Amino acid sequence: MKTNELRFHIASEFDVKLAVLQAGKFASAIDSNETVVQKIMTTVSELAQNIVKYAGVGHIHVRKICRSDIVVIEIIAEDTGPGIRNIELAMGDNFSSGGTLGLGLPGVKRLMDEFHIESNAKDGTSVTAVKWIHDK
Ligand SMILES: Nc1ncnc2c1ncn2[C@@H]1O[C@H](COP(=O)(O)OP(=O)(O)OP(=O)(O)O)[C@@H](O)[C@H]1O
Ligand SMILES: [Mg+2]
Repeated sequence: MKTNELRFHIASEFDVKLAVLQAGKFASAIDSNETVVQKIMTTVSELAQNIVKYAGVGHIHVRKICRSDIVVIEIIAEDTGPGIRNIELAMGDNFSSGGTLGLGLPGVKRLMDEFHIESNAKDGTSVTAVKWIHDK
């Protein structure tokens, strides 16, 4: 049976690279469109890097879901780190508390078709990003 879900423990740059490569393979088996595959890989890369940088440890899930009308690839990044104090600010271009470009989260939102973020100091951060695959 084909695997419809991948789960990665993320705690280092090596984990990030592995997750990006595996997610790319997973996506290309679902959609051969290079642009779609690149968007999935970039999303996993940005969200996993944020986990390492700001939370230390967390998980990434990549799933294929068949909805009634379309197939989608869903990426969930979750951690129980310190959370994001001001989500609106963090979602804006060029906000970074880590001295980098601050384009990760807003970039992922632009690349994907659905984007949802939940974050607070008690539970940590959870980001859900979905890409629609049109040719079912
Ligand atoms: N998982 C997380 N836990 C806690 N804070 C986070 C997390 N992810 C993002 N943030 C906060 O949101 C800010 C914006 O994140 P974003 O990925 O857009 O930019 P960045 O990581 O700072 O820079 P870049 O991704 O361009 O290298 C971060 O600087 C950080 O303050
Ligand atoms: Mg980032």
